[in-house]
Amino acid sequence: MRRFSLSARLTGTFVVITAVCFSVAGFLLYEALSKRIYSQDETNLVLSVRHLRRFVAELESPDDLVLHQDRLVAGILGDTANALRVARTDGRALFEYNPSKFPLPSQSAVPAHQRITVLDIRSWRGPDNTDIRGVSAIATLKDGTPVSITVARSLADRAALLSRYRRDTAMALLSGMLAAVLLSYVLVRRALRPLRAMADSAAAITAQRLSTRMPLEDAPTELHVLAVALNDMLRRLEEGFDRVWQFTVDLAHDLRTPIGNLRGANEVALARPREAAEYEALLGSNIEECDRVSRTIESVLFLARAESPQYALQRVVIDANQELQRIADYFEGISSDAGVMIHIDAQATVFADRDLFRRAVSNLLSNALRYTAPGKTIDVLARKTEYGVSLSVENPGPGIEPAHLDKLFDRFYRVDRSRSNSATSTGLGLSIVKSIMELHGGDVVAQSELNQTTRFTLLFPRVSIPE
Ligand SMILES: Nc1ncnc2c1ncn2[C@@H]1O[C@H](COP(=O)(O)OP(=O)(O)OP(=O)(O)O)[C@@H](O)[C@H]1O
Ligand SMILES: [Mg+2]
Repeated sequence: MRRFSLSARLTGTFVVITAVCFSVAGFLLYEALSKRIYSQDETNLVLSVRHLRRFVAELESPDDLVLHQDRLVAGILGDTANALRVARTDGRALFEYNPSKFPLPSQSAVPAHQRITVLDIRSWRGPDNTDIRGVSAIATLKDGTPVSITVARSLADRAALLSRYRRDTAMALLSGMLAAVLLSYVLVRRALRPLRAMADSAAAITAQRLSTRMPLEDAPTELHVLAVALNDMLRRLEEGFDRVWQFTVDLAHDLRTPIGNLRGANEVALARPREAAEYEALLGSNIEECDRVSRTIESVLFLARAESPQYALQRVVIDANQELQRIADYFEGISSDAGVMIHIDAQATVFADRDLFRRAVSNLLSNALRYTAPGKTIDVLARKTEYGVSLSVENPGPGIEPAHLDKLFDRFYRVDRSRSNSATSTGLGLSIVKSIMELHGGDVVAQSELNQTTRFTLLFPRVSIPE
């Protein structure tokens, strides 16, 4: 389908509107004018015949008609479009005034004492098919002679006037349309200038120049809404790009540390010959660094996959108590080494992806274990709530300052970088928890009181479980 520009469409619309308005107005004015002219002419005909009948009735005999022909002609106002004939009732003419020489056929006349009205007007055709209207009436002279008076008018001049009027209206219509084309094109182009400015701004946007914004100053209301929406979108894109950029920088930084460690330790070891035990220790620490790198890579890959729209959850019904016990068993070794107890109180079933559920809870537990002092207990609680299921992991410990709480779920975010930058910390654990909860349509919330307790709560929304 052919695409017309907005200017062309709007201009076309204005031209059609102008044409319709001009045509309707022109037609109505034409109708009113022609009706007025014809009714005026008909009234004049009736008035003339009435006047002439009164005048003729005062004459003595037919001879007086010729004597008073000037006054007779004055009775029809001497208009050359008019004709007058006074005849005997047998049709013989006594007096005739007909400068335009159009036919005056004898016709039924209004009887002497009957009032003449426009309904008595007859019409017929003259030369060149012109329209002629006339009326006849009987008058009685003083000597008792009845005569018929006929007054007629050719409407040729009226037809010419109206045809001129039609031509002028058509010209006005054409000029109006031309003016509408020009004016609307200029005005529409001017009105659309802010749109072009927005298109120019949009064309200038690249991944490196996401700080560009749509101009808002001259934008009319409708475009203002669009520009604001586009600017919001650009802001979100810019934030997204910034996050990706920051993520790349953090990732590079986090991979550089273990690789630097690896290289440094190996260089030092190679500087001189060493005992087998030293080489063994070196290889052991190399493996630890490699583990850290592969953990980071695995976490990053998981986060990337979890963000892809195609990620398919394999939800199953999970008995929270059973599953949590299993996870706690898995942590048994670490917790007993740390002298920390894990207490589970769970009465709920969760409809979730089993692997992801384990992963989320494990991440929270491993954090809690890291910050819980020996002899203390970590409480894991799962309950059915109005919202769905809430599962919290709470541990006594140093707590987290309120300023950090919001940022904990950002990738690579660690409260104390120097302290937690050990081989066990990648700073991705909580962002993975957040991704998992988002995949389940739920959320994760952090609460902490300094030097008291820290609690992370997973909120699984209520979902209808398929049969
Ligand atoms: N229970 C907790 N008590 C105090 N601080 C915590 C607790 N859980 C997490 N944090 C803080 O939140 C930060 C981010 O945690 P996250 O799990 O994302 O990363 P990490 O534990 O440092 O690394 P990873 O989980 O990848 O090994 C931690 O570095 C720590 O500072
Ligand atoms: Mg962690």
